[in-house]
Amino acid sequence: MNKKILNIAKLIRLAFIKRNALSTYRFGEKVLKDKYFINGDIKNKAQKESVVKRTDVINYLLNFFDTPTYLEIGVRNPDHNYNKVTCKQKYGVDPGLEFGSNPVKFKMTSDVFFEKLSSGDILGKEVKFDVIFIDGLHLADQVERDISNSLKHLSENGFIVLHDCNPPTEFHASETYDYMLSPSQGAWNGTTWKAFAKYRKDLNVHSCCIDTDWGIGIISKTTKLVNVSKVVNPYFEYFIMSENRKETLGLVDFETFCKMINENIHKDIK
Ligand SMILES: C[S@@+](CC[C@H](N)C(=O)[O-])C[C@H]1O[C@@H](n2cnc3c(N)ncnc32)[C@H](O)[C@@H]1O
Repeated sequence: MNKKILNIAKLIRLAFIKRNALSTYRFGEKVLKDKYFINGDIKNKAQKESVVKRTDVINYLLNFFDTPTYLEIGVRNPDHNYNKVTCKQKYGVDPGLEFGSNPVKFKMTSDVFFEKLSSGDILGKEVKFDVIFIDGLHLADQVERDISNSLKHLSENGFIVLHDCNPPTEFHASETYDYMLSPSQGAWNGTTWKAFAKYRKDLNVHSCCIDTDWGIGIISKTTKLVNVSKVVNPYFEYFIMSENRKETLGLVDFETFCKMINENIHKDIK
């Protein structure tokens, strides 16, 4: 009698496992065939395969200065960018949220760093950076603060470079960093684009975005770049940006960017 009950229990358990396996398979199949996931895959591949990377842009700009000073906000694994930046005088800022050893000089958030910099606690009040790479917390209000603080500590003819300004889908532009079941599949640009788009309307600076490696935003105080954006998008809606992507972000390819820089860069730059 006991054996019979045991066998029935075994059969019920097997039926449940089979049912779960079947629904997991069906869910997986649905995901694989889903148009948003398919599009996400295509867009991820295109960005990952882009030939010109952030490091190329940073090194290209640093080359215009005789003895440049470089600052990177958000370093993570320095082998991916920081260590490849060819500059003798360089500094990294990172609170160490994503890379355990966090081998940077300033182990703190960008807000704390700029506060200490402005009060003269670190590096000296007079220090100016020629290229500042903003790639820390990818949320619009933080990026806006990083840009505004960077402008105060940027040399007159220096450049701000921003990663992740051109999210290819709304899922890449989500506010949540760690949700992995999205069609972006872990690739995250956050809402950086909103802060950059705000500065694209600012008449006091020049800006553009190089259409490569998830969108590399450039801001300068003196070198003329792409005309300011006139796109009306008061609530920074993703789809309005996407429909007017070129003007909103000032999109250019790397070749056009180099031409613009060579023609317009301030002659006293060195
Ligand atoms: C996208 S990763 C940086 C990637 C790196 N710049 C590169 O090009 O390979 C973002 C980094 O920003 C750091 N971060 C997060 N919040 C920050 C903040 N408030 N200030 C500065 N860095 C921050 C994280 O710890 C993480 O290491």
